[in-house]
Amino acid sequence: MADTMTGLKRTNYCGETTAALLGREVVVCGWVQKIRDKGMLVFVDLRDRTGIVQLAFDDQTPEELRKKAQTVRAEYVLMARGEVRARESVNKEMKNGDVEVYVRELRILAKAQTPPFEITDTTSVKEELRLKYRYLDLRRGEMQRNLMMRHRIVKAARDYYDQNGFLEIETPCLIKSTPEGARDYLVPSRVQPGKFYALPQSPQQYKQLLMLSGYDRYMQIARCFRDEDLRADRQPEFTQIDLEMSFVDEDDVMTVNEGFMKHVFKEVLGVEIPTPFRRLKYQEAMDRYGSDKPDTRFGLELTDLTDLLRDTGFKVFRGAVDGGGSVRAINAKGAAAKLSRKEIDKLTDFVKTYRAKGLAFTRLTPEGESSSYEKFLTPEEARAVRERMGAETGDVILIVADPKNGVVYDSLGALRNHLGRLLGLIPENTFDLLWITEFPLFEYDEEEERYVAKHHPFTSPMLEDLPIMDTDPEHCRARAYDMVLNGCEVGGGSIRINDPELQERMFRALGFTEERARAQFGFLIDAFKYGAPPHGGMAFGLDRLVMLMLGRDSIKEVIAFPKVQNASELMTGCPDTVEEKSLQELSIRVDLAQD
Ligand code: AMO
Ligand code: AMP
Repeated sequence: MADTMTGLKRTNYCGETTAALLGREVVVCGWVQKIRDKGMLVFVDLRDRTGIVQLAFDDQTPEELRKKAQTVRAEYVLMARGEVRARESVNKEMKNGDVEVYVRELRILAKAQTPPFEITDTTSVKEELRLKYRYLDLRRGEMQRNLMMRHRIVKAARDYYDQNGFLEIETPCLIKSTPEGARDYLVPSRVQPGKFYALPQSPQQYKQLLMLSGYDRYMQIARCFRDEDLRADRQPEFTQIDLEMSFVDEDDVMTVNEGFMKHVFKEVLGVEIPTPFRRLKYQEAMDRYGSDKPDTRFGLELTDLTDLLRDTGFKVFRGAVDGGGSVRAINAKGAAAKLSRKEIDKLTDFVKTYRAKGLAFTRLTPEGESSSYEKFLTPEEARAVRERMGAETGDVILIVADPKNGVVYDSLGALRNHLGRLLGLIPENTFDLLWITEFPLFEYDEEEERYVAKHHPFTSPMLEDLPIMDTDPEHCRARAYDMVLNGCEVGGGSIRINDPELQERMFRALGFTEERARAQFGFLIDAFKYGAPPHGGMAFGLDRLVMLMLGRDSIKEVIAFPKVQNASELMTGCPDTVEEKSLQELSIRVDLAQD
């Protein structure tokens, strides 16, 4: 039988048992980090979420008590009463490494098996094992600090938006499925056989309805569900700091949310974030960085060479220009020594994963020059390219040409980030924040062969582009904005359509028949006929924000129980099959043969 806590109460946390308590009697509780048994001297490191304190037993300790201490093992749960006293050998690594608790009473509240990995910050165990035993992994100081920070960030959000007049209102998690956006997670209804709810991809429609209902400023820490492929910054369920405001334009939404960033960075990290943030139009971001979430902590900007190569005889470049695409390049300044031919071959393979067909280069080392494409150009064309690129000895020009501009942007944008890391150009511990504005309203979906909303179908077109909305959808811009932090999209939003006629026009532009629009969004279309104020808002990806603020490179590190690549959770083993009886209740038959 384990000991009980009866008659004893914790007085202090381990990490908070410091020199300020010297001479005082304390009761501490926690898990055994480590035991050092030197016979007459026994030291036990006891850990809780605040840190570690050393428990000490010596030759003056009653033998029975010392013997008891010698039986404890790693991860046993203990309660200890004793006196805080100065330590003989000070541990400078610990904030309370100058004190210890000289134990008078020890209770073993629970024993523990040997854990499958060491519970330390420096554990190098595989992620799979960490996630299978997540409850042990979460004991590690590092994970505990991450989740405590996350708590503080959420609290800062609630405080800030509250101070700015926002009301936190919950919206439902069982909702109507909408086919726009990512794939929905579906939930079968038992009482209405054959019918399904969807889990929300975001509270978008509900928060807009709240504006219509007069709540004026709404916020919610909202769980969102999207059945899409996982990445380092993507989970099938994730959390948004979601908000919406009435009677506002872009500037109002941006200003309030810049204020939030300023507040949260100051409050949680003590970092001063200058406001207002820089703003970059979508097209400029694409042209300069090949990305709508550019990492602007370093240079290596893209240069357009299309006009110089319009009439070239080199079929690769000419074909791209004739096909309506472009030829663009990066000058990796002074990188010739680092970018050997072999390295450039690797970069070529890299851009091919972004659908580029090749990577043309000119390498200008002090020892000599080599180029994969200059021999196909006239000397004038080759010179013009070098000149535009500002090429000097030591540089490497890297070119992608493609009839699809999207391929050129994607591959060079990714190459730019890759080179930034490879060449060590990215400064650490800086928080680079900017807005991307004037996004395209539509995006062509090759699979569906139609235009889809780039943000969502409720985003308002820019007023000056209204005339071209139906005739030239590709060039119609949206009143949408994204917030980008260190090359990651931390948030995004828009000013919404509040005119029912414009909303219907939008659905038509997206290829909805009237019936389908009604079936999907009838309630919304109707609602907007009852007086919708101008409104807009945005949502932050909370997991991404926490990840970036803590300088981590995966959101799994800041989520208590995350999912892995194939969307399963390794600890509980979900998703899983269910009993036949449960399926019957839901009128569901599983047919795995059908692929
Ligand atoms: P959006 O789809 O851009 O907008 O999402 C807002 C922010 O949520 C984060 N995010 C994710 N984080 C983790 N895993 C995911 N799978 C994931 N998907 C998105 C991103 C993103 O910027 N309703 C609109 C917002 C609005 O218009 O107000 C929306 O959901 O950081
Ligand atoms: P080729 O004539 O196909 O051997 O190509 C000559 C050079 O152009 C090689 O260095 C190729 O890697 C490069 N190249 C081929 N396709 C492209 C492309 N789409 N964009 C940029 N460079 C390319």
